[in-house]
Amino acid sequence: MSEGKLYLTGLKPTGELHFGNYIGALRQACIASQENKTIIFVADLHALNAVRDAKTVRENSYKAAAVIMSLGFNMDNVLLFRQSDIDSVYKLTELLMNVTPKGLMDRAHSYKATVDKNTAAGLDVDAGVNMGLYTYPILMAADILLYDTDIVPVGADQKQHVEFARDIAGHFNAIYGNVFKLPEPQIIENAGILPGLDGRKMSKSYDNVIPLMAPESELKKKIMRIVTDSKTPEEPKDPETSAIFQIYRHFATMDEIATFAEKFRAGGMGYGTAKTILFEKVNSVLKPMRERYEHLMANPQEIDAAFAKGAEIARKIADRKIAKVKKAMLG
Ligand code: TRP
Repeated sequence: MSEGKLYLTGLKPTGELHFGNYIGALRQACIASQENKTIIFVADLHALNAVRDAKTVRENSYKAAAVIMSLGFNMDNVLLFRQSDIDSVYKLTELLMNVTPKGLMDRAHSYKATVDKNTAAGLDVDAGVNMGLYTYPILMAADILLYDTDIVPVGADQKQHVEFARDIAGHFNAIYGNVFKLPEPQIIENAGILPGLDGRKMSKSYDNVIPLMAPESELKKKIMRIVTDSKTPEEPKDPETSAIFQIYRHFATMDEIATFAEKFRAGGMGYGTAKTILFEKVNSVLKPMRERYEHLMANPQEIDAAFAKGAEIARKIADRKIAKVKKAMLG
């Protein structure tokens, strides 16, 4: 591994990953890995507050790993593992509980969103809230602090969690001395506003996502279904308000983006044509990834081997850190 800053990000195994997942944290981590030490792990423990079926957790973890292994990370710089394989992360979570103010958890966006929903529905504020959901940010802080992470590439929705990790590290260090490095979030501009098929933010909860590893025919079908306004082919169009253009931007070069924008503004290009151009661009980027993904999903023993190899290295680093933390807290 090369010297310099350590990047780390976790990917929660939520089933089918979509364009939004890729454009956010994953691609940033992939770019970081070309020149930097990068830890990327499948955050299966983070799924447990909601997913109650072990088989689903396991299968989704394979899918997440297969995606990671297909995107073109520089694997010479990457440490990949499955979170639940590292016992020290459960330990650090428990130890960090003691320095984490309850009020911090009360302010977490994801918890607050549930409270707001419950309140609006006239339910008890904590209806359906388990401690896994409530303390989710502490587990995430443990993920980050265990490896002396410098930079955490995440989507905008996860920024607060990284700031919490930093706060928790600060509280700990103020009491016990300089044990933890303070991590910094790295957020990609515009990542939060990638539109989905209906023009709203691409999100599983809106059911408007384009799956990253969908077979070619499904990819095409989805792209052809992107909602547009009713402008005729001849009319000039505004690329900034078109989901077609907004998605294209994330896959094309600067020159290609400028050319496509010009075609929108000039008029003469119908939305059907624009969608075909988008499909071809996206497919050219995703095709080699999809082939590798399908190979891995058909050969899960390769994923098992990667998990085993990664866990062995990660465990050593994590165990060393937990020993230091225990020494600081317990003598
Ligand atoms: N909570 C993140 C998500 O839902 C996933 C995650 C878990 C993570 N642990 C992490 C991201 C540590 C960055 C660093 O997407």
